[in-house]
Amino acid sequence: MTRRTLLALTLAFLTLPALTQTASNDPWWQHGIIYEIYPRSFQDTNGDGIGDINGITSRLPYLQSLGIDAIWITPMYPSPQVDFGYDIADYTAIDPQYGTMADFDHLMAEAKNHHIRVIMDYVPNHTSDQNAWFKQSRSSRTNPKRNWYIWNDGIPANSPSLVALQKKNEHNGLHGPVVPPNNWQSWFGGSAWQWDETTKSFYYHYFYVQQPDLNWRNPEVQKAMLNVLRFWMDKGVSGFRIDAVSRLFEDPQLRNDPSLPGTNAFGDPNIQHKYTDDLPEVHDMLRAMRAVVDKYPGNPVLIAEADEPNIAALSKMYGSNHDEIQLPMDFQVADINQLSVPKFRMYIQQIESNPAHGQPYFFFGNHDQDRIWDRYSHAVTGPAVTDPAMKARIARIMATLLLTSRSTPQMYYGDEIGMVTTTPTRKEDVKDPEGITGWPKEKGRDGERTPMQWDNGKDAGFSTAAKTWLPIPPSYTTTNVKAESSEPDSLLNWYKHLIQLRRTNPALISGEMKMIDTTNNNVLAYIRTTPDHTVLVAMNFTAQPQTLNLTDSNTTHLTTLQTDDPNLTDAVPHKILTLAPYATYIGDPTGPK
Ligand code: NOJ
Repeated sequence: MTRRTLLALTLAFLTLPALTQTASNDPWWQHGIIYEIYPRSFQDTNGDGIGDINGITSRLPYLQSLGIDAIWITPMYPSPQVDFGYDIADYTAIDPQYGTMADFDHLMAEAKNHHIRVIMDYVPNHTSDQNAWFKQSRSSRTNPKRNWYIWNDGIPANSPSLVALQKKNEHNGLHGPVVPPNNWQSWFGGSAWQWDETTKSFYYHYFYVQQPDLNWRNPEVQKAMLNVLRFWMDKGVSGFRIDAVSRLFEDPQLRNDPSLPGTNAFGDPNIQHKYTDDLPEVHDMLRAMRAVVDKYPGNPVLIAEADEPNIAALSKMYGSNHDEIQLPMDFQVADINQLSVPKFRMYIQQIESNPAHGQPYFFFGNHDQDRIWDRYSHAVTGPAVTDPAMKARIARIMATLLLTSRSTPQMYYGDEIGMVTTTPTRKEDVKDPEGITGWPKEKGRDGERTPMQWDNGKDAGFSTAAKTWLPIPPSYTTTNVKAESSEPDSLLNWYKHLIQLRRTNPALISGEMKMIDTTNNNVLAYIRTTPDHTVLVAMNFTAQPQTLNLTDSNTTHLTTLQTDDPNLTDAVPHKILTLAPYATYIGDPTGPK
């Protein structure tokens, strides 16, 4: 974007009527922008090298100036931090590492003052093994909490049907005469069954050994976990992001998951999680969760980590009567992981026409995936793009896709400034256990969780500690909020202007989304339309100049709204739009103004 375009945009925003989300009667989450915060890495205020709640509060003015509507904060409940908060020891308290409940209440009050909603992370599938419920459960076979988790005595070690399947998991599976009851595997490697010496029995854990699965077939568990939702709703939160929802139930017959060819990064045989994922009972629980939050005012939202295998399963997450999840995260779109026009077109169209008519929910970065900057540097063929100028254009493409599509967008902290994945180079530096067990094939998720880069001072403005919990990436000297705020062409300003456009342009607020030039495999293009307004969005996914054919879209003249193509900053009077390599163009095709 040139300085001239930037100025024009700024003036346009100042003169446009303030059509904000609240002007419509629709629930806020159908338009609002949600920003994910990894609290450990956002802002440290007490100098211990770990982010905290007061740090989030201190950065609310930044978030408000960015233009987002809500923050989703990943877990900050008391936790041994094996899975950095996703192993919860107490669902209704705050981990002292992050602050106090008073700090949380203060954050809520200040967030309200800044017109920002707060969404909590809800982790129903499993607790920490240090949770009081599990401590009781494992203490004896007759403890009242025994049936709150999934226990099994195993089967004889020489059971012929299992010997081969268990071989790989012998290191943690074999215990004298018994082995785990089946081949179910942990997401993080090895058997999903862990031997517990106290009661000489196995417990089930889909994730780390320290994350035993709750038994959702037990009504007492359901009651306790639904009360957790009430606790935080009573504190004024606007909803929840629900972790690992599809894993809530397992096959009661404990059937073996089907084998697939090959082995995974942990050396385990590949399996299809047929009996541990997406069981129909999940939907009963989603309805129960929704019924709880729906009792509260303000249109609370449920977002789900729903890494579903296909559009049919994803669509089911909305519920047959729109009574489950309003915003299931679309992993089909998020995980395309290459600049493929046909794939983006196909998956976007799939969710646009989902049978449940649910609201799409897009994200391209989060705390479990390499940063957008790196993941999307691959075209369909050829080597990864390395030219920083081209990578910056690709980052703008991804920002544009996220913020101009009809979906509700979720941003991940730091993506707006172009933070890069900073993967540890030595095993001894890895913090994420997945990266320790999976090294060197799977290096874990530290690379996308590094501290936010606020400025080019000490610890990038994140902390004053001698050592931060993860190192500050070397890129902080130039990639930081302060530097990019004063640089008109920065990625940060690209995001800010896109967000303003999304908030003020009626077609982007509520317009239909239609793909155009649909045989073009180099340019992804669509229009957003309301009866009175239209916006055209076009992105060149290749390293060569490409043209977009506008002949079938009734367009005679385009007024440029935002572009990083130096040749397109003015109005474009042609039927054919030529886009520079990896360039993005957003225009108003409704005629000369
Ligand atoms: C998904 C979370 O995003 C991830 O970080 C975590 O490790 C697993 N669920 C287990 O809770």
